[in-house]
Amino acid sequence: MNRTQAEKRIRELHTQIRHHDYLYYVRDAPEISDEAYDTLFRELKGLEEQYPELRTPDSPTQRVAGAPLDKFPTVEHTASMLSLDSGQDRAQLERFDERLRKAVGGDIAYVIDPKLDGASVELVYQDGVLVRASTRGDGQVGEGITENIRTVRTVPLRLRDGGRGAPGLLAVRGEVIMRVGAFEQLNERLLGAGREPFANPRNAAAGSLRQLDPQITAQRPLDLYVYDILAAEGVAVATQWEVLAALAQWGFPVNELARRVSSVDEIVAYHAELHEQRDDLAYEIDGVVIKLDDLAVRDELGTTAHHPRWAYAFKFPPRKELTRVLAIVPSVGRTGAVTPIAMLRPVELGGVTVSRASLHNREEVARKDIREGDRVRVQRAGDVIPQILERVEEPGRTRAAKYRMPGECPSCRTPLVQRGPFTICPNSFECPAQLAGRIQHFARRDALDIEGLGEETAKLLVAQGLVRQLPDLFNLTPEQLEALEGFAEKSARNLVDGIARAAQVELHRFLLGLGIPEVGVAVAKDLARHFRSFDAVRRASKEELEAVPGVGPKMAEQIAAFFADRRNQEGLDALLHGKVKLVEPTGETAAQLAGLKVVFTGELARLARRDAKQLVESLGGRVTSSVSKETAFVVVGENPGSKFTDAERLGVKTLTEDEFVDFVRSKGADV
Ligand code: IVH
Repeated sequence: MNRTQAEKRIRELHTQIRHHDYLYYVRDAPEISDEAYDTLFRELKGLEEQYPELRTPDSPTQRVAGAPLDKFPTVEHTASMLSLDSGQDRAQLERFDERLRKAVGGDIAYVIDPKLDGASVELVYQDGVLVRASTRGDGQVGEGITENIRTVRTVPLRLRDGGRGAPGLLAVRGEVIMRVGAFEQLNERLLGAGREPFANPRNAAAGSLRQLDPQITAQRPLDLYVYDILAAEGVAVATQWEVLAALAQWGFPVNELARRVSSVDEIVAYHAELHEQRDDLAYEIDGVVIKLDDLAVRDELGTTAHHPRWAYAFKFPPRKELTRVLAIVPSVGRTGAVTPIAMLRPVELGGVTVSRASLHNREEVARKDIREGDRVRVQRAGDVIPQILERVEEPGRTRAAKYRMPGECPSCRTPLVQRGPFTICPNSFECPAQLAGRIQHFARRDALDIEGLGEETAKLLVAQGLVRQLPDLFNLTPEQLEALEGFAEKSARNLVDGIARAAQVELHRFLLGLGIPEVGVAVAKDLARHFRSFDAVRRASKEELEAVPGVGPKMAEQIAAFFADRRNQEGLDALLHGKVKLVEPTGETAAQLAGLKVVFTGELARLARRDAKQLVESLGGRVTSSVSKETAFVVVGENPGSKFTDAERLGVKTLTEDEFVDFVRSKGADV
């Protein structure tokens, strides 16, 4: 065969092999036998060896051709890769639907498809040839993973000519996933090789895409679904449904579960159906994505800084997972309560690896009858602490003995006492575990906010005898810390500086940090607002405390008892003499919004929620989470929730964010 004949034959082979790859990998419907395919592939390889100059990057032989990289290049996306607005309940979905119906002003159509739990990527094709692929990164720039993406069999290296021809430029967005079966096999392989397995298919997909050596990625069973066009030259499509059809014609894998619907009822039914099928699907999904079909209206609606206004992710409720209790370990908290903690075989729950769960108290352990070695179902909802829901029966398995709480404190050996269902270490002032807990609490973000002073450091400071009571924190020197394990010159200096900075503290944060029984964030603020000075709080009688809105008789008693304790008094005196400097609310500013309740709903564009809340509080107002007749006004941001309708229903005044900012400025706030 001469060169001209070879060139022609190579082109034919490209087309044929590409077609069979498409049928096999994307359509899952091969038309020829493996042997026949291998024969074509071998013929192509042979010709390319004979005429290396005819080997092109889009050749089917060139999937795994890239050399290992030192690092990934940074790639700017063709268009922003935004994330999705999301929620879990029907009411929110209905508000989304209402807003879009208004914008469309007639019959509406949505395209809905599964929300794939994988890694988002952008693929760019020039004149039909894959030239660039990148991870989502921060949405504007990602990592260039072109060579790795090429190894994914379902990714077309050249677009199919599905009768539409190739656009000059086409940028698409999709999700790289690993099917559950493939994920399990990969983990087995990794374990067999003495390597760390992946926690879930999403991590496995993302981790495999981010291998510097494409040879490794090539061995990872990755897959892809494409669902969006980020940019296209000369492509005439008017709807999302047409987008999916065009993508399929170009040879991209498009999710076969995508549907076109026109009502919330249909969406909810689809959501329920997929939720039901979730464990039977070959890949992981975590909800349903709803996209407005009409692309022109989409453009009109536009996007917020984070997500398009025309799409919504209707997520599934948090997942429950099975795992095993490796051990039950008693842990002594700052209040002396001894909590049995189940140490779990690490399990991934809604994006977080969970390895511990509280069993709360003696009675709870007995009620759930959880023992070491048991198989249990765990749940994590939002960012709350994981919970053990129940034990899972394993017939035929011999169980460990019933769990028994220890008789003495695991930290200080003091005999424990029972108070109702709770087990308490009564050695409040000397018990190292309680002290470490108090330090950690004192340093927490909404109290003194001392960076770098977490659980481990607090324990270390106590164990080394450097802190015997809270005031000692302020005497720590960099030299002392540097001698501790895990500290270097810089981290030691940072912690000492952090403690010094935290010494000037607002009254409510200080009150919270003290760990007074029953005093959480809200009560600490109520006390500060009411009494205005630490001395006044400290001297307050039980009756005076009860006069504070939000403080009941039991709480008042506990607070008064805390301040009456001689050891506490000594500690407080030590803290206040030259160590902590309190910033107490002044009468003036506190009066600006004094006693007013403010509610926020929707997204704020100018202010972070936290800052908006602080603004209200700095003026003496209070931010609450639900609207009532007592609410002074509701600040309504973008995509407001039900609080907005509540406000309208109750006739409560609403302010836009701008009006709110003007208002607080008029009250003297510095925004
Ligand atoms: S549409 C932003 N459809 O979910 C508009 N996204 O949590 C285009 N995702 O980063 C997105 N499955 O990468 C769309 N069927 C699907 C999806 C999907 C998964 C990803 C997307 C986004 C993330 C948001």
